[in-house]
Amino acid sequence: MKRKIIIDCDPGHDDIMAILLSLAHPEEIEILGYTTVCGNQLVEKVTRNLCQVLTAIHREGKIAVGYDAPLYYAPDPQPLAHGESGLDGPQLPEAKIAPLAIHAVDFLKQQLEQSEEPVTLVALAPLTNLAVFLKTYPQLKEKIAMITLMGGAIGKGNILPKAEFNIYEDPHAAKIVFESGVPIVMSGIEVCDDCSILHSEIDALKGSGPIQDLAHEILQFFSRYSRERGKDRSPLFDVAPIMHLLHPEYFISRPASVQVEVAGQYTRGMTVVDQREGVSQKQLNTELLLSCDREKFIQCFLEGLAWLDKN
Ligand code: BDR
Ligand code: CA
Repeated sequence: MKRKIIIDCDPGHDDIMAILLSLAHPEEIEILGYTTVCGNQLVEKVTRNLCQVLTAIHREGKIAVGYDAPLYYAPDPQPLAHGESGLDGPQLPEAKIAPLAIHAVDFLKQQLEQSEEPVTLVALAPLTNLAVFLKTYPQLKEKIAMITLMGGAIGKGNILPKAEFNIYEDPHAAKIVFESGVPIVMSGIEVCDDCSILHSEIDALKGSGPIQDLAHEILQFFSRYSRERGKDRSPLFDVAPIMHLLHPEYFISRPASVQVEVAGQYTRGMTVVDQREGVSQKQLNTELLLSCDREKFIQCFLEGLAWLDKN
């Protein structure tokens, strides 16, 4: 059965890769729309990026703009990873599509109310929109099949030694989401490390077709950081939750108890994964992805890009 999803995002190089993979699987995934939020860059910029990319690949899409700041902390854009635009690298056309005149939270309400079956929320950014939605319309939780999110870590960090960016950026929102009672699937840094693309695989995209060329330009920029550090591969963070929807069999996971540190002196945004034995059933709020078969993951990802060029 086709799964209905809404993608909450801050495009963002890897967000765009995740969206491309979703679009490459219309038999399995129906994208009801996109909600945007402040994260990698301010919300105006990431929304413009999404409109421009959809224009570039000749796609339509419903886009609703969400929050322009986290619930409590100030925005903390990441030009080092994503550039001043939030999607530096590719030359993109002027956008021919515009966002809807509805706030992301109201769009979520509208879509969930209209859908006969539960909708999967794919969260690829700080969780501000989803937290406000859950607090404002708790009666609609039953219309959410699950929230599958890229964020957090078991023990690693990227923005801080022990915190991942999406959770760090708005930990108060993340706490609301993890404590909401909605089924959560978490793609943290560790599993995303398994879902890396070799730089030689990025290079091979060039000249294979317009969408693969666009992916090449986007990933060339995104991989600068890893290349400069002498690595042979770069993570594709946000692609993991979409791949898990398509191919859960590529992943190993386990139920876990995850809590969010909102204000630690050194640990703001840390996801505290309880690794002790005997955690009670009641505390198991998250399906935690532990590892992934990289070869299968990348094959499916690259086939998706090639499919988009032919369809
Ligand atoms: C996450 O933070 C953002 O920079 C990426 O788009 C991804 O969602 C990785 O930590
Ligand atoms: Ca993102």
